[in-house]
Amino acid sequence: MKRAVIAGAGAWLPPKLVTNADLTARLDTSDEWIRTRTGMSVRHVVEPGTATCDLAVEAGRRALDAAGRDADIVILATTTPDRQVPPTAPEIATRLGLGTVPAFDLSAACAGFLYGLSTASGLIATGAARSVLLIGADAFTTMVDPDDRATAVLFGDAAGALLLRAGQDGEPGAVGAPVLGSDGSLADLIQVPAGGSRTRVNGPLTDLADPKDLYFQMNGRETFRHAVTRMSQSSRAAVTAAGWELAEVDRLCAHQANARILTAVADELGFEPARQLSNVADVGNTAAASLPTLLAMAAADGTLKTGHRVLLTAFGGGLSWGAATLTWPDTDVLVD
Ligand code: UT7
Repeated sequence: MKRAVIAGAGAWLPPKLVTNADLTARLDTSDEWIRTRTGMSVRHVVEPGTATCDLAVEAGRRALDAAGRDADIVILATTTPDRQVPPTAPEIATRLGLGTVPAFDLSAACAGFLYGLSTASGLIATGAARSVLLIGADAFTTMVDPDDRATAVLFGDAAGALLLRAGQDGEPGAVGAPVLGSDGSLADLIQVPAGGSRTRVNGPLTDLADPKDLYFQMNGRETFRHAVTRMSQSSRAAVTAAGWELAEVDRLCAHQANARILTAVADELGFEPARQLSNVADVGNTAAASLPTLLAMAAADGTLKTGHRVLLTAFGGGLSWGAATLTWPDTDVLVD
């Protein structure tokens, strides 16, 4: 059976920066609170007029250029599509010059990239695709209430991408079978209450009780607890499925939601700081873009090296979570 193998990687972050000082100037918060409770200092954010598609095209182009090949299918993992209809991925494919290839959006919140990795691996394993461009992109700051200090300090915008090709088990770059999970009984912990089919917002039929219901809302404390449990559990399962031991993993690449969550997961799994990848201080929580952006940035700065065994794990709304293993290939990575 064919395996998905990484052939190229790329990431792109919008140039505008929002520092903790920028946030403390307009919100009842402090640099100390943000740094000690989240580990964040800076985020990259989109300017008005820039949308998820624009981020995704930049990251996707870099992954294609790094791989030196085209894709048969484009998958966009995102929670912030440009519009509710149509899906955003077809426009990405067109703008990347990939013609009329199949292209679709995938919604699994901050776990979206791992769900996408699973989907891409399946498409490659069955022979439905020889190469898949998998992009995780979110302009999450467009969905966050700028006046809500509990969420406004957490998010940044970014896109990261992998070009996956058909290869063999054991090859450098080979992706292990992702382990995924969900729990819809806790759907209300992370949500945008209105704007979908549950709470209509159109014209005279509107059910919108509070305009704030169009913004992202999260029960942070509860979410934190589940994030640590689910990322730890799925990580153990993915490592076991790969036939590895946790001690053999060279780099832990976990969803960058909060430095304290990262420490808790790393402690639970026995990863010392030198084996943990992190960019949460410089980019914040970038949702579906978090894992591929971290992989690309770490490979570019040398903290992730060819041959490293990597454990990926993520958690988010749904609730949805997952973990996967891979070995980092000898490939180009384009980031700026
Ligand atoms: O990406 C999807 C998955 N997301 C996550 O996994 C995020 C999980 N949750 C978290 O990262 C954390 O829960 C947060 C960073 C969101 C919040 O940290 P916390 O330590 O759980 O704080 P808390 O929500 O328990 O709030 C503690 C206090 C509250 O004040 P009182 O009630 O103790 O007086 C909040 O009102 O901190 C207050 N607070 C703030 N204070 C200053 C909340 N946000 C802020 C803020 N600045 N920005």
